[in-house]
Amino acid sequence: MYLPFGDYLKGLVSWIITVISSNIYQIFRPGIKWVLRKATGLCELQRTCYCEPAGAKRIVAIEHSLRGSKSEQVKKLLEFLDRAAKEKRFSDSSSPVVSNSVRAICDIKKIRLEVHQPFGKSFSECVSLIWGLNELMHTIEGLRSTAYDAEDASHEEKLLDLWALLMPGKELDSRVSNSWKELGFQGEDPKTDFRGMGILGLENLLYFSKNYSNAALHVLSHANHPSHGYSYAIVGINLTHLAYTLWKDGTAKSHIYNLCSQLSKPCRPRLIHFHRFYCYLFFEFDKLWMREKPVNIMEFSRIRDIFEKNIRSQLADPNCLFKLNFPVVHI
Ligand SMILES: *[C@@H]1O[C@H](CO)[C@@H](O)[C@H](O)[C@H]1NC(C)=O
Ligand SMILES: *[C@@H]1O[C@H](CO)[C@@H](O)[C@H](O)[C@H]1NC(C)=O
Repeated sequence: MYLPFGDYLKGLVSWIITVISSNIYQIFRPGIKWVLRKATGLCELQRTCYCEPAGAKRIVAIEHSLRGSKSEQVKKLLEFLDRAAKEKRFSDSSSPVVSNSVRAICDIKKIRLEVHQPFGKSFSECVSLIWGLNELMHTIEGLRSTAYDAEDASHEEKLLDLWALLMPGKELDSRVSNSWKELGFQGEDPKTDFRGMGILGLENLLYFSKNYSNAALHVLSHANHPSHGYSYAIVGINLTHLAYTLWKDGTAKSHIYNLCSQLSKPCRPRLIHFHRFYCYLFFEFDKLWMREKPVNIMEFSRIRDIFEKNIRSQLADPNCLFKLNFPVVHI
């Protein structure tokens, strides 16, 4: 391995990490960076790739380092990458966006890639995940801002699929019907319930019922509990809001980056990762709800707040990785 000064570096870096938490670090950051660069011959990006463990810790540190860069060239490159993400140029596997930007950064930072191959590999993976997530956020935003449209046959079909999956063996008497309330919609026509979450709310509900149908039916049976019940669909849409907020404000990065880096070949963040994150939230929320045994739905805000706090504190751990392991339940 190309790492003759590994231990020396680790010592230095762990010292720095203790300093990072204080604001003093911000004042001395340029000076510390300069000293470290002189002492190790490595720039901050390289030190991060070599010393931080793969996953959220490393990627968030790389993000921080790039965004904090004083170099105009680096700033321009970041703008370019943000644009490329918006135009969805990352998901195109033949696209040279990642390799070109890694080469550009290395030119700016005077890093010779042929000498620093492990850095090149690790840094490319970080770039690919950072802007892959950026790109996915545009997709998610697109779904969220697409309102449910009863004129759109694909929306209507998804809604009817949801019924069929959650009410197996029970026909819906008509498209507009009081029966929707059995799924926890507010009125006769679910189309008005998606509101701020648009089609994203429906896609999430549908994914949960389709891919984890036992778990979804299990949760629905709790929602229909005679004394501790809640509105399945309304709560489900509200949890899309929570999932969306946690992804949008960056809180969920620990989970996403760890998830995408855990294999030997990191995968890019995809929409199914968002759907699964949502499924995890729904299942866990239901568990909390049943434990709290609320007397009525008026307690929703209180329980949702506790839930959000729990989830946020778990996500604050850079090692966080939520695992979907629904018990097989028969109801
Ligand atoms: C689960 O999700 C994937 C990807 O969205 C889909 O292709 C697959 O058919 C789903 N599985 C089931 C059992 O519905
Ligand atoms: C979800 O519920 C919380 C708490 O009651 C509320 O503040 C929020 O606006 C709701 N979001 C949606 C999309 O309904």
